[in-house]
Amino acid sequence: MSKLWGGRFTKETNQLVEEFTASIQFDQKLALEDIKGSIAHVEMLASCGIIPTEDAKQIKAGLKKIQEKVLNNEVTFSVEDEDIHMNIERMLIEEIGPVGGKLHTGRSRNDQVATDMHLYLRYQTIEIIKLLEKVQEAILIQANEHIETILPGYTHLQRAQPISFAHHLLAYFWMFERDKERLEDSLKRVNWSPLGAGALAGTTFPIDRHQSAKRLKFDMVYPNSLDAVSDRDFILEFLSAASILMMHISRLSEEFVLWMSQEFQFIELDDSFCTGSSIMPQKKNPDVPELLRGKTGRVYGNLFSLLTTLKGLPLAYNKDLQEDKEGMFDTVETLIDSLQLLAPMIQTMTVKTENMLQAVSQDYSNATDLADYLANKGVPFRKAHEIIGQIVLYAIQNNKYLLDLSLDEYKKFSHSFEEDIFTVLQPKHVVAARNSYGGTGFEQVKVQLKLAEEKLGI
Ligand code: ARG
Repeated sequence: MSKLWGGRFTKETNQLVEEFTASIQFDQKLALEDIKGSIAHVEMLASCGIIPTEDAKQIKAGLKKIQEKVLNNEVTFSVEDEDIHMNIERMLIEEIGPVGGKLHTGRSRNDQVATDMHLYLRYQTIEIIKLLEKVQEAILIQANEHIETILPGYTHLQRAQPISFAHHLLAYFWMFERDKERLEDSLKRVNWSPLGAGALAGTTFPIDRHQSAKRLKFDMVYPNSLDAVSDRDFILEFLSAASILMMHISRLSEEFVLWMSQEFQFIELDDSFCTGSSIMPQKKNPDVPELLRGKTGRVYGNLFSLLTTLKGLPLAYNKDLQEDKEGMFDTVETLIDSLQLLAPMIQTMTVKTENMLQAVSQDYSNATDLADYLANKGVPFRKAHEIIGQIVLYAIQNNKYLLDLSLDEYKKFSHSFEEDIFTVLQPKHVVAARNSYGGTGFEQVKVQLKLAEEKLGI
């Protein structure tokens, strides 16, 4: 089969070179975007009088037929035609004859591939945002159920202060909210049209780039043709927003894994989200959150891989840029799978409220409240901190928790202690008392939930 660019060549391409340089194995994922871009281009060519309207009509009809075949999985792509652009052009010419050869007037594969990628990423980013909202909804459902569920809050993975479980979950809601904002913001740049930039320098044909951009619903046209065909920072932006998002997913997953361990027993993931062991009959493994944590690595890798590919590349198009695709596809697919699993996994988990509460009653995480108590009675906080430190030490040495000590024992450390410390030390009281804005106090958590619901429009 002769190459579409074969004119100046006297030899066939080496077989290995053909396979090595082809991208059709993976860029066939851009088939629909490629056709969409071509339709907008050909309509613009006709409306600018660059090709006859009749030819444009035939080309458009041919492209629509190919689109149909792609949708029905009826096309076979060939490595000889190197990439999706030439595969479709070949199919078009086969479908409607030599007039199909007019499609490539006033454009190059360089602006064409960039256009395809912009269209692809716009579509997928919007899909990902929708899935992210489903995850946020699942978080809100659980949070609403667990405003008054108390568990230990940790710093350094040591019990620190008791908190509301809803508060803990909502922390992730806001991380995902910022992830969503980052993705939404990136759409502004994804919405630039490279189409018509040509190979690198523009074209001699009187094309109207604004018109084709409008047809593709882009809201900006790259003002510089070199930039248009060389830019991949819109992909980098997506990959970095995706990396941050996966990092959040990974942290949440890690908590699920910990919480489901025998040591914590704070939650139980639904059977449908866990797997067993081939040898140990008792096992129920949290494979899904483990794998979500694990997949974060490849998403970071895709970002680094493209950053490295682009580093030091001279303008304009270089074949290196073909390496931009697989990582992007992989990240899109990884994110879609991850988010699709995360939402129902959160929604179906069982929260073991009793175990959480029991954990809080068997630690010293109410110590800060005792220090605050003394501070409220006029003892300088630093001094109060020291006194409570001594009380905690005394309690540990006597195998007791703070609520087990008697008022007499307390009075030995400070005369400011009264009977009401036993109320102050109750886990529920401890949580409720943190009523500063954004704190874990139940009233604040309700305020936060309302704000979160407003953000989601529910
Ligand atoms: N398959 C190529 C890519 O993905 C399309 C652009 C090819 N351009 C070229 N001048 N060889 O980057």
